[in-house]
Order: sequence, then structure tokens, then C-alpha cells
Amino acid sequence: MRKNVMTTAAIAALALLAVSGCSSRSDAGSTEAGVAAGFAKDSLIGVALPSKTSENWVLAGGLFKDGLAAAGFKGDVQYAGASTTVKDQQDQISAMVTKGAKVIIIGAADGGQLGTQIKAAHDAGAVVIAYDRLILNSADVDNYVAYDNFKVGELQGQALLDGLKAKKANGPYNIELFSGSSDDANSKVFFGGAMKVLQPKIDDGTLVVGSKQTDIKQTATAAWKSENAQNRMDALLTSTYRSTSIDGVLSPNDTLARAIITSVKSTGKPIPVVTGQDSEAESVKSIMAGEQYSTINKDTRLLVTQAIAMVKDLQAGKKAEVNDTKSYDNGVKIVPAFLLPPVIVTKTNAAEAYANDPILEPLTK
Ligand code: BGC
Repeated sequence: MRKNVMTTAAIAALALLAVSGCSSRSDAGSTEAGVAAGFAKDSLIGVALPSKTSENWVLAGGLFKDGLAAAGFKGDVQYAGASTTVKDQQDQISAMVTKGAKVIIIGAADGGQLGTQIKAAHDAGAVVIAYDRLILNSADVDNYVAYDNFKVGELQGQALLDGLKAKKANGPYNIELFSGSSDDANSKVFFGGAMKVLQPKIDDGTLVVGSKQTDIKQTATAAWKSENAQNRMDALLTSTYRSTSIDGVLSPNDTLARAIITSVKSTGKPIPVVTGQDSEAESVKSIMAGEQYSTINKDTRLLVTQAIAMVKDLQAGKKAEVNDTKSYDNGVKIVPAFLLPPVIVTKTNAAEAYANDPILEPLTK
């Protein structure tokens, strides 16, 4: 009897070992290099952000610095410069690998140009998390944390339609389309989401793209630079809208929305319905003043908190928590993602949308 009990206990212990061995192997399968064992609580965590093309990136840097320090990590937060952004970021990631970062969080300057650096990161045992922008064509991206970008596009498309309808009950409406920088994987996703809503209305004649420029190559805004959007809008107004009105413009973010509005204002034409994204302070003011029509609230505080929660999971030897394992195919793998829900904001719901934001809430008064 006693022998039997011993045997059962021994079998149970062996089974436990086998199970835990098994689970750490499967963890290591997704995060490579022994992360299943976790890492020291004061480890170095690298954060490589793109250049400050919009306010969200400026906010993210400060939040990462403070949030990682508060969680006990050593944070190394770097921005790509304004000109040689890709090279800057490649060098910054390589330096983080050399310094022994356990996790490297990357807001890609160019989502297609980081394969070599993140492979080196993986080889050195670091976990790679794509932040806000997906990193393409690489098996070495472990996780993605972002707002649901396709949904952002759908909300923008719907806001454009709603804004047009509110101004004039029936179409046809003259519109123009803008998209983001082609080296940012998000640009295609935002545009795809918006066109899912707008294309049927273009097809049935409700919307008329005066310039006929509906291809993402024609609508792109290099480097997300406001002067590029403003120049294109100036050119469109001259080529297509000398004697007709322009009713609406799909703009992928707030910086470009304000550039588009500046361009239209300089011609003395009424401001069309213009969409945006990011809830930049200047755009929230513009919305409250009745100029820009909409923006998207993607609270940077929540996104950074979620990214740091992933780091804490990994530190403790767990897999990073995800809630989507099907949407973000980077060309080589579907990257397990944690997606947050974006919120559309117009003058009507601004006070409610920013109720918890000490910077934006006062602007809605
Ligand atoms: C971000 C947007 C931002 C844009 C330009 C995108 O990847 O998702 O929030 O407006 O980059 O900085």
C-alpha cells in the first residue's frame, strides 16, 4: 500500500515536470530564446519610436519613460531623427540588442526595413513587440499592440459620409482622398477600412472623387508630412475645383487634416468635411470651432499601459496577453496582437469622449 502511494506520488511529480517542461517549450516557441523563464525585474527594455510625425509619438515617449521606470525596469527610449529615419532606427535597435535589452518595443519608422535588426534581437534572446505599426515580412515579430487600425479607417469613412449628409441631405458629393506614408504599414490598413465604407458610395455615384485619384499610390502622403498634404491639396484645388465646390476630404490623421484645411482656406472656399485621427490638441480645438469635422480617440496612455503590461507578463515568464490571433498577417506570420478599440469623435461627443483626459477635456468647454 505504502509502496503504491509512493509510486503514485512519484508519477504525479514526473507528470508535473513533464507538463511544465512542455509548457515552457511551447512558450519558447512563440517568444524564442528562453523567455519562458522570465527575466530580472530591473532588466533593460528598449523602446524605438519613429520620428515625431504626430503628437501621439511625442506623448508615447514620455509615457514609456515614466511607465517603465515605475514598473522597475530600465527604459531606453529612442526616437528616429527627422531625416535618415530608417537608418537611425536600425542603429538604435542594434544598440539596444548590444546593451542586452530583454524586450524591444518598436514603432517602426519603416515597417519593411527592420528584418535584419529584429532577427539579431531574437538571436540575442530579446522579445520583439511591434507598437502601433506592424513590422512586415519577418518571422521575428513576437507580438503586436495597437488600436484596431482597420476599424480606424472604417470610422473615418463613416464619419465622412455622416458629415456630408449633415451638411446636405443628398449627394452627389465631391470628395478627395488622402492616405498616409507608404512606408508605414498602417497607411494601407486605414485606407482599406475607409474604402470599405466609401467604395460602394463611389460606385453608386453618391460620392464623386473629382480628381479620379482613388489608388493608394496617388493618395499617399510621403513621410506623413503636412507640407506634402498641403501641396497635393493646393494642386487638386487648382486642377479640379476652380469652379466647383469640394464637399469632403478623407484625411488619415489630424496633422494632415489641418494642412488640408489650411490649403482650402487659402482659396477662400468653404471648408469641406475633413476627417482625422489622433485627437491632437490643435485638431480638437478646430473641431470645437466647427472647422475639422472628426478625429479618432486612440488614447496613447492606454496603448502604452498595454505595451508595458506585455513586458510585465514576459518578465514573469508568461506569454504576453493577446486578444487577436487572426487579423495581422505581416506577410510571413500572423502576429498575435492586443488590439484596443478606437473611438470616433466629432463636436457632438467630444466632451464625453475626452472626459478622462486632463489635457483635452478643457478644450471641449
Ligand atoms: C499612427 C497614427 C499617426 C501616423 C503618423 C500612424 O502609424 O497610427 O496615429 O497619425 O502614424 O504619425
